[in-house]
Amino acid sequence: MNSENKYGFVAKFFHWVIAALIIGLIIAGLYMTDMEASDNKWELYNLHKLFGVIVLGLIIFRIIWKILNKGKPAMLDTYSKAERIVAATVHGMLYIMMLVMPLSGWLMSSFGGYSVMFFGIDIMLPVEKDKDIGTIFHEIHNIGGSVFIILLTLHIAGALKHHFIDKDITLKRMLPECPIKCCGNCEKNK
Ligand code: HEM
Ligand code: HEM
Repeated sequence: MNSENKYGFVAKFFHWVIAALIIGLIIAGLYMTDMEASDNKWELYNLHKLFGVIVLGLIIFRIIWKILNKGKPAMLDTYSKAERIVAATVHGMLYIMMLVMPLSGWLMSSFGGYSVMFFGIDIMLPVEKDKDIGTIFHEIHNIGGSVFIILLTLHIAGALKHHFIDKDITLKRMLPECPIKCCGNCEKNK
C-alpha cells in the first residue's frame, strides 16, 4: 500500500515493469518499421503486438489498483507551483497515453485485417476490415509514439532534476529499498 511518504510495493512494481516494457516497445516499434521486409521483421511485429497487449493488461490492473488504493505520497515542499502543475499534467497524460498506445495499435491491426497473435490464439478484434479506419488508428499510434517520447523525456528529466539538483527523495521513494549507495537525500528530507 502507498503511504503519505512512500510508494508501496505494488505501485513500484507496476511502475517499473510497465516502464521497462513500454521503453522496449517504443525502441522495437521504431526499429521494426525501418527494417527491410523479412521474416525477422514480421517476427518482431508479432512480438511487439504480443508485448503491447500484455502491457495493456498490466496498465488496466495498475489503474484499478490506483483507484482502489487512493492514498499517494504528496508532492514534496521542494516543488514550485509551476512544477506541481507540470508534474501532475505529465503523470495524467502518461496514464492516458498508456491506454491510447496499445488500444490504437490493436485497433489499427484489427481494422487493417492483420492478426494479433496471443500465445497461439488470434485476438484480432471482431470488426469489419476497413482500411480508412485502420489508417486513422495507424496515425494515432504513430503520432502517439512521438508524444509519448516527449512526455517520457520531461518525466525522466524531472526525476533526475529532483534527485541531483534539488536533492530530494522524489526518485528514491519510487525505487526499490535503497538499492544504491546511500545518497543522503533521505536524511535531508526527514
Ligand atoms: C514508459 C516509462 C514510464 C512511464 C509510463 C511512467 C509513468 C509514471 C506515472 C504515471 C507516474 C505517477 C504515478 C502515480 O502517481 O500514480 C510516475 C511516477 C514516477 N516516475 Fe515514472 N514512468 C516511466 C519511467 C520512469 C523513469 C525511467 C523514471 C526514472 C528516471 C521514472 C521516475 C518516476 C518517479 C521518481 C515517479 C514518482 C514521482 C512523484 O512521486 O511525484 N519514471 N511515472
Ligand atoms: C504501450 C504499448 C505500445 C507502444 C508504446 C507502441 C509503440 C510503437 C511505436 C513507437 C511504433 C513505431 C511507429 C512508427 O514510427 O511508425 C509502433 C509501431 C507499430 N505498433 Fe505499436 N506500440 C504499442 C502497442 C501496440 C499494440 C498492442 C499493437 C497491436 C496489437 C501494436 C502494433 C504496432 C504495429 C503493427 C506497428 C507498425 C506500424 C507500421 O508498420 O507502420 N503496437 N508501436
